[in-house]
Amino acid sequence: MDYNRCGRSGLLLPQISLGLWHNFGSFDDLHNAEQIIINAFDKGITHFDLANNYGSVPGSAEENFGSIVQRNFQGFMRDQLVISTKAGYKMWDGSYGDWGSRKYLITSLNQSLKRMNLEYVDIFYSHRPDPKTPVEETMMALDYAVKSGKALYAGISNYNAEQAKQAIAILKDLGTPCLIHQPKYSMLERSPENGLLDVLGENGVGCIAFSPLAQGLLTSRYLKEIPAGSRASNPNGALQTTDITEEIIQKIQLLNQLAQKRNQTLAQMAIAWLLKDKRITSVLIGASSVTQLYENLKSIEQLTFSEEELQQIESILRE
Ligand SMILES: NC(=O)c1ccc[n+]([C@@H]2O[C@H](COP(=O)([O-])OP(=O)(O)OC[C@H]3O[C@@H](n4cnc5c(N)ncnc54)[C@H](OP(=O)(O)O)[C@@H]3O)[C@@H](O)[C@H]2O)c1
Repeated sequence: MDYNRCGRSGLLLPQISLGLWHNFGSFDDLHNAEQIIINAFDKGITHFDLANNYGSVPGSAEENFGSIVQRNFQGFMRDQLVISTKAGYKMWDGSYGDWGSRKYLITSLNQSLKRMNLEYVDIFYSHRPDPKTPVEETMMALDYAVKSGKALYAGISNYNAEQAKQAIAILKDLGTPCLIHQPKYSMLERSPENGLLDVLGENGVGCIAFSPLAQGLLTSRYLKEIPAGSRASNPNGALQTTDITEEIIQKIQLLNQLAQKRNQTLAQMAIAWLLKDKRITSVLIGASSVTQLYENLKSIEQLTFSEEELQQIESILRE
């Protein structure tokens, strides 16, 4: 595993990071979850991404992760981990458990630290922009999180190019540079190419791409059917069966053939395709098994694409 510098910061992140949105919550197999994390770390994944609301019961992924850290990563081992969490989506009822107020962000961060039994997180994110709260207030909350030592770095997620530019400038003025942006980015989700990657590159802000496999669509999972046990078959999963259209299946079958010609699986090609852009610091995958994790990690063995391959990918995606 290589480690990429996160923007113009001192922090290095692994090419592939692991997210705990699905598969680590209260309804999931904790032994399997622990094995995925231990094996990920053994293979060089040092960065684990959480949010206050992850797990089918919000907060349960943080609780489970906290107990896994407690059992496996004590003392010096904690210093080898880069742990992130976020607040921005609905976490609790009432007036203070959603969006981007200082009240919500700081209270939520305190709760996250308690759930994970940690003294600090490495990265604290504003999970999404809030159209009603002044962006200055949200950024001041991130600045406070860092200056109080509850977080080491600040990040933003789901901000578009213009919103990111503004947030980055405010954080810079506050003296807490924006470390990283976390957008949804994959062969099937290209919106970061509409100016966001340029803003991040120009401002020395890192980029970690989430849902790089489009929640499993860019793997061999749905080439023929919706298998039992897959995210799309799970009523608690965020992937809907209606997302798996005939048009998507045709595209992924063609992409799969191209991946095979490159001696890669579709999942490996989808991850490599993101890492070809030097502005991508890390690719943030999910995995429901150690087998999937191992398959995905092999993507780094073949990261280069010929011009012809890139054009073929574009023409498949455009069809
Ligand atoms: N900032 C945000 O708003 C935001 C939003 C979403 C996600 N995220 C972050 O990004 C992380 C990753 O998101 P994601 O889970 O959607 O990522 P993803 O990598 O696109 O999808 C992961 C899912 O794809 C399937 N899969 C993975 N590897 C496979 C393989 N080799 N073969 C077959 N199927 C495979 C598994 O689903 P099955 O269950 O079908 O096995 C797995 O859980 C999250 O955990 C979270 O940390 C952030």
